[in-house]
Amino acid sequence: MKTYDLAVVGTGGIAAVHARGIADSGGRARVSAVVDVDPQRLRDFTAHLAELGLPEPRGYTSLAELLNVERPDLVDLCTPPGLHAPQAVMCLSRGLTVLCEKPPALSLAEFDRITAAEQTGGGRFATVFQHRFGSGARTLRELAADGSLGVPMTAVCHTLWHRPDAYFDVPWRGRWDVEGGGPTMGHGIHQMDLLLSVLGPWREVVAVAARRARPTDTEDLSCAIVTFESGAVASVVNSLLSTRETSHLRFDFAHATVELTHLYGYGDADWTVTATPDHADAVAAAWAAGPKGRASGHGAQLTAVLDALDAGQAPPVGTADARATMELVAAVYQSAFSGRPVARGEIGPGSPFYDRMQGTGAPWPAVRATGGAR
Ligand SMILES: NC(=O)c1ccc[n+]([C@@H]2O[C@H](COP(=O)([O-])OP(=O)(O)OC[C@H]3O[C@@H](n4cnc5c(N)ncnc54)[C@H](O)[C@@H]3O)[C@@H](O)[C@H]2O)c1
Repeated sequence: MKTYDLAVVGTGGIAAVHARGIADSGGRARVSAVVDVDPQRLRDFTAHLAELGLPEPRGYTSLAELLNVERPDLVDLCTPPGLHAPQAVMCLSRGLTVLCEKPPALSLAEFDRITAAEQTGGGRFATVFQHRFGSGARTLRELAADGSLGVPMTAVCHTLWHRPDAYFDVPWRGRWDVEGGGPTMGHGIHQMDLLLSVLGPWREVVAVAARRARPTDTEDLSCAIVTFESGAVASVVNSLLSTRETSHLRFDFAHATVELTHLYGYGDADWTVTATPDHADAVAAAWAAGPKGRASGHGAQLTAVLDALDAGQAPPVGTADARATMELVAAVYQSAFSGRPVARGEIGPGSPFYDRMQGTGAPWPAVRATGGAR
């Protein structure tokens, strides 16, 4: 068994979750180096690793400094969103493989620079979309692909979360220039990615977005109607204003409805399957035969990443899949801010929504730069 050396870049909140996945990997991965611009965070994270029984890593206060000395098997980017693309390009151009927290970039333009660096540098780039990796999602994708459920008709993809004003005290939150968007880009993106992983390519989006209540420049609510190549139509809602929180996905296929209700992660018990009477036995048997027992989460994705590295393959979620999700996010913003439907493939170089998610600008005044609502 190979033990992969990971460099964790950015040792804040989500890095602790990554550390748990690494500790649970059964020795397949270790943290050999860590970077944070904040020495206290670096010390706290090193102490956290020790609590998890992991050895002390070498510490750095800049990625450039680390890359001058280290050659990790995997760079694990856990920094704020605005740093993902430049840090990924820095690593990929040295031929290193990168696992990057979502969102992988602030814009499609940035994302395409990552893909270009991957193609020229020889490393691989993967995005953390951990909800693809629970056994329920794996089972659903298998059954959707082999026709057991019939053709997809309609779907619901609702990320109804609640974030109080204080959540936006973190300087990189709620700003287009460093977070890239609100709940569409930062929260519902997980559910939208899972939706796309099941239903495949989308064709057209009609959307609205609003800032109703939070002290942000970005939206705190978006609602979209997404039509897929298959003809299926999904309702997608991303909210930070919903007091009873839920992450709810519902897939209505010709032979069965499959539902997932969770919040930040799911297990097998969070899925329900309701088949039409004439398909009840076949659907129940097919669902029962699918993968079981793995909750969604960072640990599940890390296992899949390590499996891919063992097999000499690109780790999931690769650039093609992540770009499809980023393009859907960009299309929600373009449709919302232009008042028009947006077709897949329409947002390319030359479009303002290619260079930045807010494109031509949100139709509400900015508050964070001026401090107006803070
Ligand atoms: N997949 C998920 O479910 C999930 C959940 C939460 C957050 N995230 C994502 O994880 C990323 C980080 O979020 P967080 O909540 O951990 O943020 P955080 O602010 O808690 O941590 C970020 C860390 O990066 C450090 N940092 C800043 N600039 C740096 C630099 N130039 N080099 C190295 N380190 C630097 C900060 O000091 C901080 O310790 C974001 O992209 C966020 O969207 C993903």
